[in-house]
Amino acid sequence: MMQTTTEAHSLEVTDSPVTLAQIGKLQPPFVLAPLPYPAASLEPAIDAKTMEIHHDKHHQTYIDNLNKLIAAKSETKNLQTILTTLTGKEKGIKNNAGGHWNHSFFWTLLSGDNKKTKIPDRLKLEIEASFGTFDKFKEAFEKAGLAQFGSGWAWLYRDANGKLAITTTSNQENPLMDVATVKGRPIFTVDVWEHAYYLEYQNKRADYLKAIWSVVNWVQVDAYDREVTAH
Ligand SMILES: [Fe+2]
Repeated sequence: MMQTTTEAHSLEVTDSPVTLAQIGKLQPPFVLAPLPYPAASLEPAIDAKTMEIHHDKHHQTYIDNLNKLIAAKSETKNLQTILTTLTGKEKGIKNNAGGHWNHSFFWTLLSGDNKKTKIPDRLKLEIEASFGTFDKFKEAFEKAGLAQFGSGWAWLYRDANGKLAITTTSNQENPLMDVATVKGRPIFTVDVWEHAYYLEYQNKRADYLKAIWSVVNWVQVDAYDREVTAH
């Protein structure tokens, strides 16, 4: 697939997995890419209205704020470079660049297509080797997501030693940031901000975390994992 990733302002929607490199190379001014599937296609796990508001309003707002903040400083760095040079920068850049990266990544990780929601054997074995069983992994991930106090994200990532691990971050922080509390290379995440689930689940974050497994695009997670373990 030919793509001019060095000049892309938004992700191209195709049926192929996205790469972390494509997200990282996005250039300002950033533009919101369409969801890679119809908003209703994740029902009943996530309702269409939540997806529409989350994508069209929340994600768009992070992009608009980020574009304003960086235009004021005449920054021309790509998204990856912005995330890895936050030391000493104002908090707004961290929040909005994180918001843009995290949501761009999150949309790619969901699917209503059962060809994509079946976990590839390679990744399943990797997860089993790290967490005992696939169910134990899911349990640990849900527990982490539930324990994140306030807004944030739960992550499955490769740590500095290349091991699969689970962590959470607050607000829009992510493990790629130079200022991150826990650093690593993410391959999967779940948004645990209330805006991700409140319409359908209200305060029941645990139910949302359980339901989301039915719409995880494991083919995409596997592609991210192959990408981060190849380097
Ligand atoms: Fe969100």
